[in-house]
Amino acid sequence: MENFSVYNPTRLHFGKGCVTERLAQEAAVWGKRALILIGKGSVKKNGVLDDVTRQLEQAGIHYEVFEGIKSNPIYQDADRAIAQSKAFKADMIIGVGGGSVIDTAKAVALGHGSNASIWDIYMRKVEAPAQALPLLCVLTLAATGTEMNMFAVLQNDEARIKKGFGHPGMYPKVSFLDPTYTLSVPLNYTAYGIADLMAHTFELYFDPSDAPLSNYFATDIIALAFDYGRAVIQKPHDYDIRANIMWLATTALNGTLNAGKRGGDWGVHAIEHALSVLFDIPHGAGLSIAYPAWLKHFLPKIKDKLSFMAERTLGKGTTAEAFIDYLENFFKEIGTPIRLSEVGIGEDKHPLILEVFKQNRVRGMHFDMNEEDHKAILQLMA
Ligand code: NZQ
Ligand code: ZN
Repeated sequence: MENFSVYNPTRLHFGKGCVTERLAQEAAVWGKRALILIGKGSVKKNGVLDDVTRQLEQAGIHYEVFEGIKSNPIYQDADRAIAQSKAFKADMIIGVGGGSVIDTAKAVALGHGSNASIWDIYMRKVEAPAQALPLLCVLTLAATGTEMNMFAVLQNDEARIKKGFGHPGMYPKVSFLDPTYTLSVPLNYTAYGIADLMAHTFELYFDPSDAPLSNYFATDIIALAFDYGRAVIQKPHDYDIRANIMWLATTALNGTLNAGKRGGDWGVHAIEHALSVLFDIPHGAGLSIAYPAWLKHFLPKIKDKLSFMAERTLGKGTTAEAFIDYLENFFKEIGTPIRLSEVGIGEDKHPLILEVFKQNRVRGMHFDMNEEDHKAILQLMA
C-alpha cells in the first residue's frame, strides 16, 4: 500500500431540493457579487438557472450570467469569462451545468487572479495564482466527478491539445447535487456519463499498487454501474436510479479510489483527449470506444486484476475475456459506441490520429504506450 494524504475541502449537498433549500445561505458566506457560468441553454429550459438566481436574489447577491460554454470546453471561453468576472468585480463564481461548465468555472475562479491567459497557466508558462475565487457548483449531469475534485480540463483546438490541470484552489467550496436536475439529461449523454464514471474507476483500479480496499470499492462501483446503467435506460425518469448514478460518479473521482495508490493510470483518458481535440466527440463516447481496446491490448499484463474484477462483478468463474465481451455488450445496450466507425471516424483518419497521439505523448502512468502500442490499440478501436 502506498503512502497517501486525504484532503477534500468540498462541502457537498446531495438530494432533492438541496439548491432551493441551501444555496442562498451557502452563497452569502462568500460575498455579494457572483458570476454564473452556464452552457448552451439546458439550464434555462429545465428551470435550474431560475432556482439558482432566485436563491441569489433572496440572499441579496448581485449576479451576471456568462452563457454559451460548449461541451469539451475551450480555453478561449474561460478567458472571456475571466475578463467578465474582473469587469464585474465578482467575488465568487457559480458553475451551473455539466462537467464542461464546472471545469470552465474552475478555470475562471483560478484565472481571475492573473493577467495571463488561462492557457499559459495550463501550459505552465506562467505561474498559477496561489488563491482562486470561491467556487460553487450546481451539477446537472452525472459523469465527471469534477464537483468534488481539484481538476479542470480545457481544450486548445488550434494546438490540438486537451489538458487537465489541478490546483487546490479549484476544489469547489460547495457543490449541490440535486438528482432531479439530471432527469432531463438525454439518453445518449446519460450513457456517456456512465461510461465516464466507469472509466475513472478503471483508471484508478488498474494502478498496480496493492490497495485492496480501493480495489474492492472499484469493483462495487462497476457492478452498480452495470445495474443502474441498464435501469436508467429503461426508466430515465426514476429519481432513485438517477440519484444512485450521480453518487457513483462523484465517488469514482473524489479521491476515494486513490487511497493507497499512485494516482491511477489515465492512458485511456489520454487517448480520448486526442479524439476529443480532433473530432470533438463526447468524452464518454470516446472512452467507451477506447477502454475495451486498451483492455484487450494490455490483457497479458492485467489478466489477474481483470479476472478479479470479472468475478466480483459478474460472478465466480467469469474470465477476463468474458468481462471485456460483457463490457462491450453493456456499452452497446445503453447506447454508447464501442468503435470509431460508429461515430463516422474511418481508417482514412488513422494517420492523423497517430500523429496527435505522438504529438501529445499519449501514454499511461503505469502502462506505457509507444508508437506500436498506439497502432495496435487504434486497430482495435476501428
Ligand atoms: O450546454 P448545455 O445546454 O448545458 O447542454 C449540455 C451538453 O450539451 C447537456 N446537459 C447537461 N446537463 C443537462 C444537459 N441537458 C439536459 N439536461 C441537463 N440536466 O449535456 C451536454 C454535455 O455536457 P458536458 O458538460 O459537456 O458533459 P460532461 O459532464 O460529461 O463533461 C464533459 C467534460 O468534462 C471533462 C471532459 O473531458 C469534458 O470536457 N472531464 C472533466 C474531469 C474533471 N474535471 O475531473 C474528468 C473527466 O475525466 C473529464 O475529462
Ligand atoms: Zn473522464
